[in-house]
Amino acid sequence: MVCLGNICRSPLAEGIMLDLISKHQLPIEVDSAGTSNYHIGEMPDKRTIVNAKKHGIDLTPLRARQFVAQDYNAFDVIYVMDNSNYNNVITLAKNESDKAKVKLFLSENKHSNFTEVPDPYFGGEEGFENVFQLVHQTCEIICNNYK
Ligand code: 4NP
Repeated sequence: MVCLGNICRSPLAEGIMLDLISKHQLPIEVDSAGTSNYHIGEMPDKRTIVNAKKHGIDLTPLRARQFVAQDYNAFDVIYVMDNSNYNNVITLAKNESDKAKVKLFLSENKHSNFTEVPDPYFGGEEGFENVFQLVHQTCEIICNNYK
């Protein structure tokens, strides 16, 4: 799960996936990263933590890291939250097989009118709830593929 800062969208996706994986005992490993180095080592954004907690998801153990080329070797699928993340991640691909691993996260969600998960960082609280609903719905769809 990849976004820009690894403090709002992608740690939320990681936390929701970890919760669903544990609830349904699914054979998936998940991690998240940011394309930027802005927040390396930091906890998720307070507003994301508070919103996720309302829904029973604890994001406090997560720490931001930067996406690295090695992630292409470690993971089968790399979900990016928006087109800008897509372009940044593709830049680090070593070959066509790496590139084929990169997918827009919302491409899994046929019910959504959005193609990108909006960045809530510069907006209000409502944005965080909207992002939660969008990310949660999509994580459930992804997990259903593994049940
Ligand atoms: P994220 O949100 O990519 O969903 O983690 C952002 C977090 C930080 C910044 C931008 C977006 N920033 O510019 O610091």
